[in-house]
Amino acid sequence: MNKQHDISSVLTENRVFAPSKKFAAKAIVSSAKNLDKIRKAAEKNPVAFWEQCAAALQWDKKWKSALIWNYPFAQWFAGGKINASVNCLDRHLSSYRKNKAAIIWEGEPGDQRTLTYGQLHAEVCRAANVLKKFGIGKGDTVAIYMGMIPEAVIAMLACARIGAVHNVVFGGFSSDALRDRMLDMKAKLLVTQDGAFRRGTSVNLKDAADKAVAECPDITSVIVVRRSGENIQMCAGRDYWWGEVMKSATAINKPESLSAEHPLFALYTSGSTGKPKGILHTTGGYLTQVNFTSRIIFDLNDDDIYFCTADIGWVTGHSYVVYGPLSNGATVFMYEGAPNFPDAGRFWDMIERHRITILYTAPTAIRAFMKWGDSYVLKHDLSSLRLLGSVGEPINPEAWMWYRAVVGKNNCPIVDTWWQTETGAIMIAPIPGVVPTKPGSGTLPLPGIIADAVRRDGTSCEQNEGGYLVIKHPWPAMLRTIVGDDERYRKTYWSEFPPNENGEGGWYFTGDGARRDKDGYFWIIGRVDDVVNVSGHRLGTAEIESALVSHTTVAEAAVITRPDEIKGNALVAFVTLKSGADVPALHELREILRNHVAKEIGHIAKPDEIRFSEQLPKTRSGKIMRRLLREIVAEGKTSGDTTALEDFSVLEKLRATEEE
Ligand code: WTA
Repeated sequence: MNKQHDISSVLTENRVFAPSKKFAAKAIVSSAKNLDKIRKAAEKNPVAFWEQCAAALQWDKKWKSALIWNYPFAQWFAGGKINASVNCLDRHLSSYRKNKAAIIWEGEPGDQRTLTYGQLHAEVCRAANVLKKFGIGKGDTVAIYMGMIPEAVIAMLACARIGAVHNVVFGGFSSDALRDRMLDMKAKLLVTQDGAFRRGTSVNLKDAADKAVAECPDITSVIVVRRSGENIQMCAGRDYWWGEVMKSATAINKPESLSAEHPLFALYTSGSTGKPKGILHTTGGYLTQVNFTSRIIFDLNDDDIYFCTADIGWVTGHSYVVYGPLSNGATVFMYEGAPNFPDAGRFWDMIERHRITILYTAPTAIRAFMKWGDSYVLKHDLSSLRLLGSVGEPINPEAWMWYRAVVGKNNCPIVDTWWQTETGAIMIAPIPGVVPTKPGSGTLPLPGIIADAVRRDGTSCEQNEGGYLVIKHPWPAMLRTIVGDDERYRKTYWSEFPPNENGEGGWYFTGDGARRDKDGYFWIIGRVDDVVNVSGHRLGTAEIESALVSHTTVAEAAVITRPDEIKGNALVAFVTLKSGADVPALHELREILRNHVAKEIGHIAKPDEIRFSEQLPKTRSGKIMRRLLREIVAEGKTSGDTTALEDFSVLEKLRATEEE
């Protein structure tokens, strides 16, 4: 955590929107009184509350202990046996849901597919048999490097069915990023596709996959879905077409009965040091919380068509495209491509044509739509919509109001949902039929979630005082560890607020700052560590810095952000070059370095601006003072305290670094 960071919150927002009577009348949770009772009981006994939620799932064997807490390691529902794919598929087959659409998919070019629960189940069983045939069993890792096509979901659920651990790597990541993740996980098999459609062209994934696999000796087979039809190399004896291997597999597969703590997936996320962390999630607790939150926060009903715009490469795609909605038997709408293809009205066009009822998207997308103009939205009939959701970063009140008025016609509650890759599921969000909303606030923690804004000494903040957002009691979907690194897990999340000498306390530190208002509502102020949020994607500045420094010309780099209208934050990199390095013209070098970062991490991490500087401002102990860099970018000068600075002349030089 950055110790120099003062948390101050400047936002004041007084608008309050109560749920409409019409919405409340039909909502799954509609009684404020009842919710209040449940909240109070859950505050006293969170574990009992989560046990009730777990009972909504289908267990092969009931758990013995709901929570075993061996700080900071949790086991939820120990002794219980369960299978996630059974909960998402098989249990719906004995009812009318068998022939209900599980996934309605639209490709970017406009092609469509619908898979009923019955059909999705058959495909998953086939894929599970294929994986087994390739030697994949319980506990083995399968990497998935794909775009948004139904086979990605099928592959995930097939892993869950046989007890393999999936590691989905976002299709926008580079081959290096894919390689690092596969190596860290010791993945044995990779599922990928030839190319994915994005903004009218196809992005080749197989070439990147080939490069990565060449350096991953544990990968023995690659299964390739035909999607774009482009020419790719198939390596004989290693690569197999999905279509071919699925053809010869049967649709009968007996699921593994897995212990509740069996790992379901790992997903890598950025932290404040260079190396991405493999966040490990297990089965029973994770499924309990994603199932409960999907149902209650999105008010999911059987006749809803629910569209979550997140990519399955992010945790939102895992929890709220796949496991949450499918375990509720919902109809999920899934879209392959860009929101502005063929024009900026694509989402609204799809909502109109498919009669989508629930839309869950990110503030960065909302801001882009605002900029593209209301006319794209107003052209379409959005009267099917009844609930809107937001996730990924704090939503600014203007964007919230626009979302409510222009998209929701002042008719749809907005659920602003705060959570993280680590939390696995939503933690702070309004329950839409009951909790009044305020633009920019995620409102209250869910029942069973004990959250607080605290000072560094652990005391609770006063009303409206900014502090550190902590979770004071284990929750079922919490990460269990960082893959292969229990110590880093302890240090990253549990060392800021350790237990006292009586063994009390020991809280999870989220890395976010927050304040609570007079109604107890949470307002997230943003990250307080060196993690930044660009277009709703989490990036560690340290990761981008090490990518820059890995270039032959770069001696040192510091990455900070400045506010950006669409992306929320734009990345600004300060770079010092190695003396004597063979350096091209600086405008060329800027492009070279941007592309270098894209190669190392992916396009999302490309700095928007690169400033070259002879030196970086440092404390006497050598820590780069990013605060000063932020001030220089924002104001062109520094106004804060510079007494810790080692060499004052640096500041003068930095002011002159602006990109020409
Ligand atoms: C931020 C995405 C404010 C926050 C699910 C968190 C939010 C990080 C919100 C996690 C929200 C996410 N309001 N901030 N509704 N949702 N964040 O791991 O800083 O990609 O710590 O998980 O995004 O990002 P991650």
